[in-house]
Amino acid sequence: MAAKVSGSVLVTGANRGIGLEVVRQLSESPCPPTHIFAGCRDPHGPGAKALRELAQKHPQKITTLRLDQTDQATISEAARQVGSALKGAGLNLLINNAGINQAANSNTVPVGNLAHTGEKEMTEVFLTNTVGPMIVTKEFLPYLRQAASLPGVSPSEMSCRRAAVVNVSTLFSSIQRCHELFLQAPMYPYRVSKAALNMLTRCLSEDLKSDGILVMALHPGWVQTDMGGPQAPLSTEDSVRGMLSVISSLSEQHVGSLLDWEGRSIPW
Ligand SMILES: NC(=O)c1ccc[n+]([C@@H]2O[C@H](COP(=O)([O-])OP(=O)(O)OC[C@H]3O[C@@H](n4cnc5c(N)ncnc54)[C@H](OP(=O)(O)O)[C@@H]3O)[C@@H](O)[C@H]2O)c1
Repeated sequence: MAAKVSGSVLVTGANRGIGLEVVRQLSESPCPPTHIFAGCRDPHGPGAKALRELAQKHPQKITTLRLDQTDQATISEAARQVGSALKGAGLNLLINNAGINQAANSNTVPVGNLAHTGEKEMTEVFLTNTVGPMIVTKEFLPYLRQAASLPGVSPSEMSCRRAAVVNVSTLFSSIQRCHELFLQAPMYPYRVSKAALNMLTRCLSEDLKSDGILVMALHPGWVQTDMGGPQAPLSTEDSVRGMLSVISSLSEQHVGSLLDWEGRSIPW
């Protein structure tokens, strides 16, 4: 199914990997959103060249923003800029995509194993992957609420066309499936921070459903990005095509769910 994402969208971590591909596919879709806000840590730096080029191709569609999700001041300033650009129209979809894994210490040490993980690694990854999406959602909430309450939207509709928050999680967050997946990738900070992101997703979904805002978590698959590595089986194009199809078809039954890029449910 082609992506049907209308209204306005904010994507974090939009300068590379999955985030950049989300912005690319949305901007080139036959029925693109009204506007795409592409947040990244350094929109003027060398790491955002591809995003700047995309934004230059679609100047009416894409606005790049400085947004470091571990830096409250940049999140507040990005929210202020988005709010003033929206002119009361509200934000329909927030994709909390930005995230980190712990860097490998060497080629032989598995990333995030117990021996090489301490307070610093746990804290850094938790701040980015869990606290970051919470603060970003909180700062943009007034605009999501605005979109959800606009006249013409049915009060019972839950969808990305009304108002939704999609937290990009991972299969490695699944507590139930940890026994079968742990040895291939110990990744203590990453797994723990994303399992906490799932709980954040459930809390927000309960909290915001009376506002008409749908909150869910989405696993993009194992994808060829800097994080996923070149051996990953999925291209960013295929993963994001699947993710956008899932996002397009979200409804009330998906409130508080954890799905993969093909729409399959993942056990908590
Ligand atoms: N690739 C996979 O196989 C896979 C599998 C499951 C889940 N995921 C999830 O998918 C999401 C995207 O991953 P990816 O594979 O595209 O990773 P990636 O290629 O490493 O890109 C990560 C993105 O997050 C941004 N980012 C990191 N810390 C940030 C911060 N503090 N504030 C704002 N942006 C920040 C990076 O920006 P900079 O360029 O500034 O560093 C970059 O744009 C992540 O949440 C990841 O956990 C990926």
